[in-house]
Amino acid sequence: MSYVLKYAPKVLADVVIANANVKDKLAAYVAGELKQPLILHGEFGTGKTTIANLLPSAIEGKPALIEKLKAVEFNTVYDVSALFNAPPMFYKLFTTNGQNRNYMVSNEFNFTVKAALAFRDVIDELQEHTQFIFTTNNLASIDKGLQDRSICLNIPPVSARDWLPRAKFILKEEGVKLKDAQLLNFLTKQLAVSSSNRKLLEQLEALVWDVKNPKTLVVTKSIKDLVPPKTPKPKAPVVNPLLAI
Ligand SMILES: Nc1ncnc2c1ncn2[C@@H]1O[C@H](COP(=O)(O)OP(=O)(O)OP(=O)(O)O)[C@@H](O)[C@H]1O
Ligand SMILES: [Mg+2]
Repeated sequence: MSYVLKYAPKVLADVVIANANVKDKLAAYVAGELKQPLILHGEFGTGKTTIANLLPSAIEGKPALIEKLKAVEFNTVYDVSALFNAPPMFYKLFTTNGQNRNYMVSNEFNFTVKAALAFRDVIDELQEHTQFIFTTNNLASIDKGLQDRSICLNIPPVSARDWLPRAKFILKEEGVKLKDAQLLNFLTKQLAVSSSNRKLLEQLEALVWDVKNPKTLVVTKSIKDLVPPKTPKPKAPVVNPLLAI
């Protein structure tokens, strides 16, 4: 199984979050102090969808049911009202699973102007019962009225130091030992190439593979190589270039 799946955070506390504002805002949602729709925005692979999927369970204090809202498909007022205003007004009246509230998560959404206006009303009516969580790479493309009703939270890339404890945990799980300085160096170099934590996990997987399967240098054979040397040279392991300090 790829590390992106194997080491995907299972609970909100697993998510590597360094930014104090992000921590505070998420803690306020967990404490029930914030109920506005939440728009998580930022670069690719910083953890927006992961947070959106784990926050409801953190709020409920138990595994929560999440409804995935395909908001990209809202083109008309009818699309919005068909889902939210159809009898028996489910979202206004009920919650499932013994939960305090309903949770609707939507990754990427881009309404037509009319659908966005209808959705504003839905948000205003349902806010108490339903927690909306949206994720996007492009906040500017989101309806301004929806932004105004929401907490817009930028999920920024994290630093190598922030990643260090979780990366150490992953290496330990994989039975690989590296010095902190080496691991920090690896994380720093990788995060300079891409701020995506998805990419970082892919490279960490490659690193573990390299450490567990040290390759030997391939030397081109020549006639003189066929004559056995008097003292055989030890084979030098190839070091993952991201580890070189
Ligand atoms: N902050 C993080 N802490 C730990 N793991 C993370 C974090 N962010 C991302 N990951 C890993 O990367 C994978 C992809 O993350 P996720 O889908 O949440 O990113 P995203 O911000 O929604 O990306 P996109 O902008 O491309 O939609 C996760 O399954 C997880 O394995
Ligand atoms: Mg996403």
